[in-house]
Amino acid sequence: MKLEILVHAQRMTITLAGQLDVNAAPALEAVLDQQLQNITELVLDVDGLEYVSSVGLRVILHAQQKMKAAHGNLLVKNVSQPIADILEMSGLDRVLHFQRKHRQLSVAGLQMIAKGANGECYKVNEDTVVKLYFDFVDDGCAEREKELATKAFVAGVPTALSFEVVQCGTRNGVMYEMLKADTLALYMEKNIERLDEVVAMYVRFCKQIHAIAGDTSSFPDAVTLACGYVDACEFFNDGQRAFMKERLMRTERCGTLIHWDMHPGNIMMQGDSLCLIDMGDMAVGTPYFDLGQIKQVLHYYASLGLCHKFIGLGDANAMRVWQMFVVGYFDNPDPDALKAIEADIDFYRAIKNVYLYLCGSGGETMRARRRDFIFQMMPKDFAELK
Ligand SMILES: Nc1ncnc2c1ncn2[C@@H]1O[C@H](COP(=O)(O)OP(=O)(O)O)[C@@H](O)[C@H]1O
Ligand SMILES: [Mg+2]
Repeated sequence: MKLEILVHAQRMTITLAGQLDVNAAPALEAVLDQQLQNITELVLDVDGLEYVSSVGLRVILHAQQKMKAAHGNLLVKNVSQPIADILEMSGLDRVLHFQRKHRQLSVAGLQMIAKGANGECYKVNEDTVVKLYFDFVDDGCAEREKELATKAFVAGVPTALSFEVVQCGTRNGVMYEMLKADTLALYMEKNIERLDEVVAMYVRFCKQIHAIAGDTSSFPDAVTLACGYVDACEFFNDGQRAFMKERLMRTERCGTLIHWDMHPGNIMMQGDSLCLIDMGDMAVGTPYFDLGQIKQVLHYYASLGLCHKFIGLGDANAMRVWQMFVVGYFDNPDPDALKAIEADIDFYRAIKNVYLYLCGSGGETMRARRRDFIFQMMPKDFAELK
């Protein structure tokens, strides 16, 4: 058997090829015993694996128990049909998180039509695009986005059809129906003289999504996810963690959907109607989670001069859009009421930043900014909590 190890931050990928049998199992067992310190995400890439015996399966099960004890995850990926048959026969398919081998796709010669924070979008043919994730994005991301996009579509969310998860070299991707449309951000830029009308449409669209019921057996619960992010964030002390979780637990449980990244760069303007894309963070929760991230992009990124770079909407225009949006969403609140609303929104902005800090999006400079930003968003005495 061939065994290769790659470590990236807290993720270890072990690539196995050949036969994982009684002769080969001790080599894998030794790695699991000796090298898993600080690893929270263990990936077994079994692309080249031809056979696994009961001894090999027991080692994999052991790996899963170790990761569970360390509050981490094990993913077995690139499972071929013969290996999937063995997992099913043994019953391990019921306890292991595994992903089947995906169709290989090459993007050589394909036109790149857009680039986002997590991936690039290529035109495959007149009706289909592929969104390819960057290597730094975690391995389960494509599967998760595909699954959530399908569930959201079935729940009644206007979104592109998602066809299948594919693999391109070391990268994962999702094939989508191609939307022949501009993003709402670009549409706003091009129709700046009609901004009132376009923002009113944006508000109506967000409210439409926020009125769709979602159950937590299909979608993750945002409060539960958020409590997990707070627990995993190493720069909070116990007092700060308790404060944030107590506040999160007081969140109204409205049982409706959120997108959690619903800025105008993730909405497409198709003819006269709007359509959501980038569905990997869909969840059930209060609209305030969404409003927090919308404000983050339109207000905070714009204040850093980054909104234009990020979604193509000019920074000054983005600030205007945010003011019009929040006033429209809450039906013209008086100034005091608006202040209280924005204070609530800021708490949920901080929460999203904990998540973005943890997944490392934006590199080290952005991570440091996010950390400072989280403290700025919290009450003054938050930093002094012990
Ligand atoms: N189904 C689609 N049809 C046409 N263009 C798309 C589609 N999905 C994504 N895009 C384009 O690709 C860009 C990046 O996609 P997105 O899903 O937002 O990735 P990221 O997670 O990196 O933000 C979008 O802003 C949009 O311009
Ligand atoms: Mg996006």
